[in-house]
Amino acid sequence: MNAQTGIMDRLRSGTSELHRQAESRPLQKQLGAGTLPRAALAAYMGQLLLVHDCLESCLDAQLHRDGHEAFAVAWQSLARHSENLREDLVAHGLEPHAVAPLPATSAVLDQLGRWSDAGDLALIGALYVLEGSMNGNRFIAKALQRAWGVDTAAGLSYLDPYGEEQRPTWAAFRSRVNAVSFTEDEASAILAGADRMFQAIGEISDEQNELLRDGE
Ligand code: HEM
Repeated sequence: MNAQTGIMDRLRSGTSELHRQAESRPLQKQLGAGTLPRAALAAYMGQLLLVHDCLESCLDAQLHRDGHEAFAVAWQSLARHSENLREDLVAHGLEPHAVAPLPATSAVLDQLGRWSDAGDLALIGALYVLEGSMNGNRFIAKALQRAWGVDTAAGLSYLDPYGEEQRPTWAAFRSRVNAVSFTEDEASAILAGADRMFQAIGEISDEQNELLRDGE
């Protein structure tokens, strides 16, 4: 793939195998089938809250320093998913401030902090993964609603933040980030950030699933 190809296209093709693996994790399969128990969903959402909260703070921090223009371009007009997650946790009867990180969550939080301190564009790759996951999350929200026999979004707002605006929001994010020019080193950093976030979400899903299996 040549250096003229937009970064979003490189991310899509470069991580397609990681996406396939992510979809096939046991916890993700249960999410897709709508069979994940409510308490398990809430516990998983707690971990996602920590990750989103940290990424949002890291991206905010980049806007306050003379960093790469891509941070401002990418990090605009997107939902603050941590806010929906907080509401959802409360709807599930959990206290957002009381969530303790799993080991995989702690590891990725540390990584995000290091990238933030360095102004590393890997943060854009991490954002791509979490924002991109909203494409599938819409279907998961519908599967859970069907399984629970409800038509309310209570406890599920994180999974469907944009409603009918999902596709246009994703398309706009793709096209504005695709229009930014990156050096080959910068593109590599972004791709590495996406790989790391796919890995983190996979590990968090698996650690969460282990706890479920052990009945904790
Ligand atoms: C049951 C699990 C999942 C399902 C059913 C699912 C489904 C989907 C679907 C339908 C799309 C839209 C494809 C398109 O129209 O172009 C998508 C895109 C995406 N998903 Fe997932 N997904 C799942 C899990 C995940 C997870 C766990 C992550 C992140 C760790 C993730 C990250 C992404 C990303 C980054 C994209 C954007 C790909 C691109 O166009 O560049 N997905 N997913």
